[in-house]
Amino acid sequence: MSQLTSQSVTFIFDYIEELCGIALDDSKSYLIDARLSSLVKQFQVKSPIELVEKARTPLGDPIRRALIEAMTTRETFFFRDKSPFDALQFKALPETLDVTLKQKSNKLRIWSAAASTGQEACSIGMVISEMVPDIQRWDIQILATDISEDALTKARRGIYTKMEVERGLPPQFVRKYMSSHPEGYKVNDSVMRLIRFQQLNLLDPFRFPHQFDIIFCRNVAIYFEKNVKIDLFRRMLPLLPQTGYLFVGVSESLFDCGPEFKAQAHCKGTYYQPNLPKLPAKQTIAAYTPAQAIAPTQAPITQKQ
Ligand SMILES: C[S@@+](CC[C@H](N)C(=O)[O-])C[C@H]1O[C@@H](n2cnc3c(N)ncnc32)[C@H](O)[C@@H]1O
Repeated sequence: MSQLTSQSVTFIFDYIEELCGIALDDSKSYLIDARLSSLVKQFQVKSPIELVEKARTPLGDPIRRALIEAMTTRETFFFRDKSPFDALQFKALPETLDVTLKQKSNKLRIWSAAASTGQEACSIGMVISEMVPDIQRWDIQILATDISEDALTKARRGIYTKMEVERGLPPQFVRKYMSSHPEGYKVNDSVMRLIRFQQLNLLDPFRFPHQFDIIFCRNVAIYFEKNVKIDLFRRMLPLLPQTGYLFVGVSESLFDCGPEFKAQAHCKGTYYQPNLPKLPAKQTIAAYTPAQAIAPTQAPITQKQ
């Protein structure tokens, strides 16, 4: 592919950022060749510039989707970084179950945002299966979302190669929650039925009708500009009850997102909880709007349903 000028690189990268938040600079210009040259052929255009120009047109949806698939990094594995899952198992989950029972509810709502090919949601499902012996009596939902349809297609199958499984899943969990499959292993239905998959761009306004007890949003905001990252996590704040938990990637931190996030640690895992003024029991967090926090398009949120 011919050499691109710095302006052309900026033109392409600005559009990628507009599409999915991924911020790239000149030092990553090699990605244009590496990831877009096959799309140039596929969509029969002359250059990546023309590809982006076509993507911007009203009929450009297939190119937009292909650009997202090409530019997202979907690296993930079971029990990635381990410590957040320890904190989930030994702190977040027992406390959430306790709070839920005190509210005379049986609903547990968890969100794996940027779930990629599903290993994170499955790991959460396995931890829940370990910790909730009377699981049939609970109404549990792990919502696994990602911008990438390709990632979600794989996630929905719940089938992983031997190498993907051996990369992070403890052998006792393989025995308990996986069955062998011609392609490697398949996650058992007991875990898969806890998970609901949905395509969602984290840049779009959230329209969830309820809050989440626990949110995992890991290893995606590292690709975003600082202000996009701050806006993302602050839009998540009303989605969490005061007793909610937010897990981010181990190399990510919310120190620049404002005092409304309180960092906590357990089992060497860090998580965040809302640090908001105490509200009367029946008032929802959506009623409290931290300064400049909530996009005006944000739908009203009630407690979990
Ligand atoms: C590196 S993976 C992280 C997966 C998993 N959370 C983990 O920590 O192992 C990043 C994921 O973020 C997704 N992603 C990137 N931009 C996104 C956006 N704007 N909205 C939703 N998902 C996005 C990618 O498709 C990819 O699957």
